[in-house]
Amino acid sequence: MSSTENALKRLEDLGQKKALRFWEELSEEEKEAFAVQIEKADLSCLNARFDEGGQSMPKIAPIDVLKVDEIEEKSERWKEEGLAAIREGKAAAVLLAGGMGTRLGTDGPKGVFDIGITKPVFIFQRLIENLMDVVKEAGVYPDLYIMTSEKNHRETVDFLTEHEFFGYEGAHVFFFEQETAPATDFEGQILLEGKNRLATSPNGNGGWYPSLLKSEAGAHFKASPVEWLNVFAVDNVLQRILDPAFIGAVIEGKVNTGAKVIRKNAPDEGVGVLCLMDNKPGVVEYYELTEEMKSAKDENGEPLYNYGVILNYLFRREALEGALEKQLPFHRVKKKVPCLDEAGNPVKPEEPNGYKYELLVLDLIRELSTCLGYEVVREKEFAPIKNRTGKDSVESARELLKKNKIEV
Ligand code: UTP
Repeated sequence: MSSTENALKRLEDLGQKKALRFWEELSEEEKEAFAVQIEKADLSCLNARFDEGGQSMPKIAPIDVLKVDEIEEKSERWKEEGLAAIREGKAAAVLLAGGMGTRLGTDGPKGVFDIGITKPVFIFQRLIENLMDVVKEAGVYPDLYIMTSEKNHRETVDFLTEHEFFGYEGAHVFFFEQETAPATDFEGQILLEGKNRLATSPNGNGGWYPSLLKSEAGAHFKASPVEWLNVFAVDNVLQRILDPAFIGAVIEGKVNTGAKVIRKNAPDEGVGVLCLMDNKPGVVEYYELTEEMKSAKDENGEPLYNYGVILNYLFRREALEGALEKQLPFHRVKKKVPCLDEAGNPVKPEEPNGYKYELLVLDLIRELSTCLGYEVVREKEFAPIKNRTGKDSVESARELLKKNKIEV
């Protein structure tokens, strides 16, 4: 079967004939380009199970996490253990940078955004400077994998190459592109961006491991001795990456995952909460917590659901391998998706007209069964940049950086 016939069959088998309604109008070249896109897209969302909150809610219970004071007591020992793992090449970092940064309102990758006031301070630069602290202590450059998306890959690679990786050793930086997922109408039929182009967007941050394995960077990874992957978000400019004490604690805890958590600043703060879900560690989205859960207190008067995740996780490679067979749940979100109407005219909807589909890295915690929650001091390790101003913004991050004596 030719590649175009293959692509046609793939869509037909999924009941997606509508996306092929202009097929007969296409030239051979246009058909080929369409086939390549269909081949590359992750279409598993089309017959996936959905987790939109509230529908099949598991039984939620509080979880114990390692508190800052308990960590302090043992941190020297854990740090040594973590540094030893880093020196043996057993730990690598994975930067999730495939997001669209819609709230920040940048066209390009979030990491190229300059948050400096008196001098340029690019988000990528801040992250690499943080990682350099570990390089100095360990005396080696751990591998750094950077996940991009089809929309920002070229710009990310060019930017970091031009800036010579802000001092990081280039031989230890590897890029890989995440997959895309199609957007559909409310009936689940794929929307078209052009007559030979599906409307697609990055498939969320949860698909990073399969995307890494399928990539060229994956070939290096497979041959490497890495046992632990520290996965982190692009937008927290204060976070510690490959924090040796965190690695040591997770290794000693003999768990499959570790999650850095902060004490929430309000019961309804918009961060996912680490807890037990049907007796297994997992992350509940803030909007899934009931009022009762938000106000529940323990015997010391502390909120029961008090530890929010900051998208800084450690994953045991072996456990990720074991989870590969299972599909994470897709989250379906109503969005305004620019697309073609029935007659093939482009439309820019004013109201949501369909769904986008995303996998979330937080679902991996539940999938991998065991997790160590590890508390960090929020003022020292949490300065997320989601918006330009206000909460979790460029402004609030600058203030936090200054408080930590980092010049901006
Ligand atoms: P966010 O959920 O904050 O999304 O991503 P975003 O795309 O950066 O920003 P908005 O929502 O459009 O304003 C959390 C982390 O996950 C990464 C982001 O780059 C960020 O590091 N991410 C998100 C991906 O790598 N891929 C995705 O498809 C989505």
